[in-house]
Amino acid sequence: MEYHNLGSTGTKVSELCFGTWRFGKESGDTVETDRDEAHELLDAAWEHGINFIDTANVYGTPHGTSEEYIGEWLDDHDRSDFVLASKVYFPFDGWGEPGPNDSGLGRKHVREQIEGTLDRLGTDYLDVYYIHRWDDETPIEETLDTLDTLVSEGKVNYLGASTMAAWQLTKALWKSEVNGFERFDVTQPLFHAAYRDDVADYLDVCADQELAVCPYSPLAGGFLTGKYEKQGGEVVGPEGSRADMDERFENYYVSERGWHVLDEIRAVAEELDATPAQVSLRWLIEQEALSCTPIVGARTTDQLEENVGATAIELSTEQRERIDDARYAEEGRRYGH
Ligand SMILES: NC(=O)c1ccc[n+]([C@@H]2O[C@H](COP(=O)([O-])OP(=O)(O)OC[C@H]3O[C@@H](n4cnc5c(N)ncnc54)[C@H](OP(=O)(O)O)[C@@H]3O)[C@@H](O)[C@H]2O)c1
Repeated sequence: MEYHNLGSTGTKVSELCFGTWRFGKESGDTVETDRDEAHELLDAAWEHGINFIDTANVYGTPHGTSEEYIGEWLDDHDRSDFVLASKVYFPFDGWGEPGPNDSGLGRKHVREQIEGTLDRLGTDYLDVYYIHRWDDETPIEETLDTLDTLVSEGKVNYLGASTMAAWQLTKALWKSEVNGFERFDVTQPLFHAAYRDDVADYLDVCADQELAVCPYSPLAGGFLTGKYEKQGGEVVGPEGSRADMDERFENYYVSERGWHVLDEIRAVAEELDATPAQVSLRWLIEQEALSCTPIVGARTTDQLEENVGATAIELSTEQRERIDDARYAEEGRRYGH
C-alpha cells in the first residue's frame, strides 16, 4: 500500500479509504454487517495498510451504530495511526425521534452532532468532518463559521463537502476565502467509471482548487464488480447481495451506459489477469488531474482483499481510454441512463 497527501493537505492517506456505511445497518431482518464482521473488516483493512476510515453520524440502525463499532475497535488501536472522517446533515435518530433541530447544517445541530460523533468514536478530534449534503435552509456562512470554530477548537482538522453541485462547492470556497474561514479541502462525490460526465463540472473545480476527491460507491454499489447480469430486462445477481437488499439498487447504480462501460472493464480485466472490481478502482486511483482516493465498501474480507488488489495493477493509456470511451455510442452520443 502506498500513501499520498490528501489533496493539498499535509495528511497522508492510503490509496484506498475504507467505507463503513453498511456497519450495523438493518435491511429487513438482516444486519448487513454486524459488530463482529465490522471488527474483522477493520482488522483486515488495517492489515492491508488502509489508514483512512469513512463513516457518518447516520450510518447504522439506529444512527450512530457505525461510529460506535469503529470506536470500540479503536479502543485496541492507536488512534493517531488513523485518518478518521465523519459527516453531518441528515436527521439523526440515534437519540430518539428526530426533532426540528436534529438535521441540517445550522450551528445548533452541527455543534451537537460533533459531540456525539467524537463520543461514539472515542476520540477528541476528527481528521475530516464533511457536510453530508448542502442545506438550502441555512446560510452557508453560518455553517462555515461553525465549522471554522470546530477547527480552531481542535475538534476537526479538515473540512469536507459531500454531494453537491459545482456551483455550491464554488460558492462555499468563495465564502471561505472572503470571510477568512477554513475551506473545504476534501470532497466526496458519487463518482465511478460509469458516472463521470454527471460530475464533470464538480471535478473540474476540485482539480483547479487542488481539493482531495474521495469518490463514494466507486464500484456502483457492486455493479462494476461484474457480478450482476442482465436477464430479460432484469438485473440478476448473487443472493444476499446489495441488489437483493436495497430496492433502489437499479435506479442508483445501473444504467445503459453502465453496461457498456462494464463490458470494457471486463475486457481490460481479462487482459491484465485482474478482476473488474480491481480495474474499476484502478481507473479512479489513476485519475491524472485529481488527488483521488476511492472509498471502498466491502462486506466480506475476501471482497476487501480483492479490492485492495487494485493497488497492485496498472492500466495502460489505451486501456484507460477504452474505458472512458465506452460511455459513448459509436456516433459519439452519450449512452443514456
Ligand atoms: N457521501 C455519501 O453520500 C455516501 C453515499 C454512499 C456511500 N458513501 C461512502 O462510500 C462508501 C462506499 O460506498 P459503497 O458501499 O456504495 O461502495 P461500492 O464499493 O460501490 O459498493 C460496495 C458493495 O459492493 C459489493 N462489493 C464490494 N466489493 C466487492 C467484490 N470485490 N466482489 C463482489 N462484491 C463486492 C458489496 O456489496 P454486496 O456484497 O452486499 O453486494 C459492497 O458492500 C460507504 O461505505 C460510505 O463510507 C458515502
